[in-house]
Amino acid sequence: MPHDPDPPPAKKFKPGSVFFRLEKNKPGMLLPRKGNNNVTTPIDVQRKRLPIYQAKPQLVYQLRQLNNAIVIGETGSGKTTQIPQYLYECGTGRQGIIAITQPRRVAAISLAGRVAEERRTQLGKLVGYTVRFEDVTSSETKLKFMTDGMLLREAIGDPLLLRYTVVVLDEAHERTVHTDVLFGVVKTAQRRRREINKVPLKVIVMSATMDVDLFSEYFNKSPVLYLEGRQHPIQIYYTKQPQPDYLQGALVSVFQIHQEAPPSHDILVFMTGQEEIEALARTCRDIAKHLPDGCGPMVVIPLYASLPPAQQLRVFHPAPKGHRKVILATNIAETSVTISGIKYVIDTGMVKAKRFNPDSGLEVLAVQRVSKAQAWQRAGRAGREDSGFCYPSLCFTKCVGSEHVLFIPEAVRAAVEQLELLGAVEKKEEQVLLTSLGKKMANFPLEPRYAKTILLSPDYSCCEEILSIVSLLSVDSVLYNPPARRDEVHAARRKFTSSEGDHMTLLSIYRAFKKVSGNKEWCRENFVNSRNMSLVKEVQAQLREICLKLNMKLESCGADTGKVRRCLAHGMFINTAELQPDGTYLALDTHQTVAIHPSSVLFQSKPAYVIFNELLHTSRCYMRDLCLVDPDWLLDTASEYFVRKLHLTKS
Ligand code: CDP
Ligand code: MG
Repeated sequence: MPHDPDPPPAKKFKPGSVFFRLEKNKPGMLLPRKGNNNVTTPIDVQRKRLPIYQAKPQLVYQLRQLNNAIVIGETGSGKTTQIPQYLYECGTGRQGIIAITQPRRVAAISLAGRVAEERRTQLGKLVGYTVRFEDVTSSETKLKFMTDGMLLREAIGDPLLLRYTVVVLDEAHERTVHTDVLFGVVKTAQRRRREINKVPLKVIVMSATMDVDLFSEYFNKSPVLYLEGRQHPIQIYYTKQPQPDYLQGALVSVFQIHQEAPPSHDILVFMTGQEEIEALARTCRDIAKHLPDGCGPMVVIPLYASLPPAQQLRVFHPAPKGHRKVILATNIAETSVTISGIKYVIDTGMVKAKRFNPDSGLEVLAVQRVSKAQAWQRAGRAGREDSGFCYPSLCFTKCVGSEHVLFIPEAVRAAVEQLELLGAVEKKEEQVLLTSLGKKMANFPLEPRYAKTILLSPDYSCCEEILSIVSLLSVDSVLYNPPARRDEVHAARRKFTSSEGDHMTLLSIYRAFKKVSGNKEWCRENFVNSRNMSLVKEVQAQLREICLKLNMKLESCGADTGKVRRCLAHGMFINTAELQPDGTYLALDTHQTVAIHPSSVLFQSKPAYVIFNELLHTSRCYMRDLCLVDPDWLLDTASEYFVRKLHLTKS
């Protein structure tokens, strides 16, 4: 039975909250709505039809006065694209730049594109964006969309964020360690600027979910501005029973809709990751070939973070006439990316996300149920331009993920501790100061441990190899493993497999890839994802540029790969695990019991000491991407740390 859902309840409203009640389901308040073809509606008319437009005068009045504000409004109400423009139009922040941070790179890019279009200017002039490996801004830029990570990097060089007069922390419900740390950094910058009488920093937190007490508490009890009203109604259909196999459930829903709905109604399916998406894409394409007459054609388009930007942008292009567009996406499409034409959303109810665990101090990647707020967000992707439908594979009530857990103090503490261990910062009295190594590390758009490993590499004469490895680890999997062809995969990989571990195996595949100049046929035969491999080359070229600027020696150690492992051990020592008598491993930093992921080349050999790249929580806690190391190297490079850790282990 279809029924209208209620939004997640707003539990209580804080004193000082401001409520803008927008007339429900009447987006065209001021202008009659003529059809819903966004392509032909002039862009300024589109802007005026957004729900937020009704509240513009009062909203601007509030935002001008407040130094801290939280803005809540449903997805699609126009928060991200309009509020920065409203602030700019009323002159707030003219002395500096308005930064709008996004957890995701593709969101920052597409939003900047949209806002530039709305202002009828070329991207990179008044409106620009900065994401990892790409800076499209100029001295004229006043509205700057950027990833959380990029603002964080800038904050290392400029802790007071003096370039900015307004920082908008968008998608605040989408928690990552970056966002958490960024909250701390922005709050400190704001306070310090007040203390030393600099131009005040306005901080606006935006979110689509109602549960904001913690944000408000954190930012000096800031008032909450609620924009009420979804742009278009959505009907939610629940499956009668929760689906035990969510992929199967999604597949069935796709073809059910495909057979019944008009072809112009596009479908968006939420899934957990690249491999799952690519597998379902293949299945959909296969089935689509054998459909009964009368069933139109479909185009299946994957969307996940590691796709090259040009490929990601494919989701925005309309499907050829008569075709239905089916987008299989990770939670990348959940909040910040607007894809037009989506009429149906199928939600598997699952997400693969990095979670910061305050007990272990580690960030882990895990497949988990989405929270209620996320499920609501996902449903919202269907109602952007017209009324829509959502088919969650699991009921909202089944969502167990806790909605908001703010780890701000712990995350900051843990992040600072890690930076201290890496030698990037030092504590002096109450202050945390960047060391000269830390300043160098900040040049790289990378996680601190990778930056440090690169900086160490000239000491081991293996800068080229380390750059390759870090680039390989910075993109999503460069290998693919179709389960049905396991034996073939195994045979093809054998010639590259290194007993020294996954880093070395990847390196030899990458060397072979370069030798054949990325030949497509070779990639197919060896089950190498040529798209991702080409991205590795691009990333490596950019990292090499940075090394050259820092006057680093770009040497290669050739066949002497022991040097590479020593360097990895030195830079990544925090992620060391030790084999235990019972055959499990112990992560030395956190004392967690972990296991080698079956996909690792070291799965069988079980060496005494390994370093790992990341932890994946599924049924167990698995280490992924391992490298064999010698305990003596670890003691050489971080003796004090390891003596302490090993002592703890034995006692
Ligand atoms: O931030 P919020 O979810 O409230 O809305 P928004 O991102 O500002 O988007 C408001 C509207 O702008 C969407 O409903 C789309 O119609 C349009 N938009 C777009 O066409 N392309 C984008 N990249 C972003 C937004
Ligand atoms: Mg938004």
